[in-house]
Amino acid sequence: MTGGRELAPVALGAAIMLCGVAPLCAGDRELGEYLSSECVTCHQISGRYDGIPPIVGWPETDFVQALGEYRDKSRDNAVMRSIAVKFTDEEIAALASYFGSIGPHAEKSQR
Ligand code: HEC
Repeated sequence: MTGGRELAPVALGAAIMLCGVAPLCAGDRELGEYLSSECVTCHQISGRYDGIPPIVGWPETDFVQALGEYRDKSRDNAVMRSIAVKFTDEEIAALASYFGSIGPHAEKSQR
């Protein structure tokens, strides 16, 4: 009777698949805002390119992927690698949610 043992991985797989469906696995925007203080010492919150690429207004999946690539070292930047490894998946999702919510687009709609 090994059937019961297989339930746990199946449930885990289902949970991971649900993350593809917003907002079930959407990042916590407030946590993202809190964590963002470190990022905005280099990245312009206004989205202006200042020698460092802007990271506001990105689709969340692109943002998560970019930080994931620094973490798994497929992107080559020592600074961003050492920053990205400090964050959990949950924190990266939170950052993606926060930065994705601001930017030129979001600024306009506030006026
Ligand atoms: C010490 C300065 C510095 C800090 C602090 C910093 N970054 Fe960066 N970041 C950079 C630089 C420089 C690059 C461009 C690296 C490259 O060319 O790959 C970059 C690139 C990125 C990119 C990819 C941009 C692109 O156009 O592909 C993302 C996403 C990013 N940073 C997110 C963050 C987040 C989130 C934080 C805070 C947790 C953060 N960064 C903190 C300097 C910094």
